[in-house]
Amino acid sequence: MRVGRVLITEDQIATRLAELGTRITDDYRGKDLLLVAVLKGAFMVMADLVRAIRLPVDIDFMAVSSYGEATQTSGVVRILKDLDQEIAGRHVLIVEDIIDSGLTLEYLRRNLEVRGPGSLEIATLLLKTGMQRVPIDVKYVGFDIPPDFVIGYGLDLVGKMRNLPYVAVMEE
Ligand code: IMP
Ligand code: MG
Repeated sequence: MRVGRVLITEDQIATRLAELGTRITDDYRGKDLLLVAVLKGAFMVMADLVRAIRLPVDIDFMAVSSYGEATQTSGVVRILKDLDQEIAGRHVLIVEDIIDSGLTLEYLRRNLEVRGPGSLEIATLLLKTGMQRVPIDVKYVGFDIPPDFVIGYGLDLVGKMRNLPYVAVMEE
């Protein structure tokens, strides 16, 4: 496999995250907002999105494993690192890099819901069109993309390529 064409440029990502940041700022004004990024993939979205939000937000991270070494979802989700803090009564926004089958997020949402947050919503940079195996209610979507395997801007192929500043398609 090799890196194919650029799907979303650095500029497009910056512009879109600025828009989402403005919306989030309006929606959460006066509320105790906690952004929860899902490691490792979402670390870059988190860093840029949080800077586009003009509120005193708090951040935390979870690490889950859903794919192992493969590029296909297994449906098996394992929590490798849990949140550092309690979320009861707080307004939680999960920050994801990409939603494919949606199985990872469905698991996370159920896991966090039982902790009694004041609200629980999802923001994702990328949403793979038509690939969701479970209905997912996503409040903030950066881009709807075709169901190809993509890398860059946090997204990896077996651990590499995360540092590309744009999103590109992998080709045979
Ligand atoms: P899902 O459970 O199928 O929605 O997959 C969720 C996770 O799989 C994402 O958070 C990514 O870490 C990873 N993933 C899904 N699609 C891709 C892709 O095209 N490239 C790289 N990682 C992906
Ligand atoms: Mg991820």
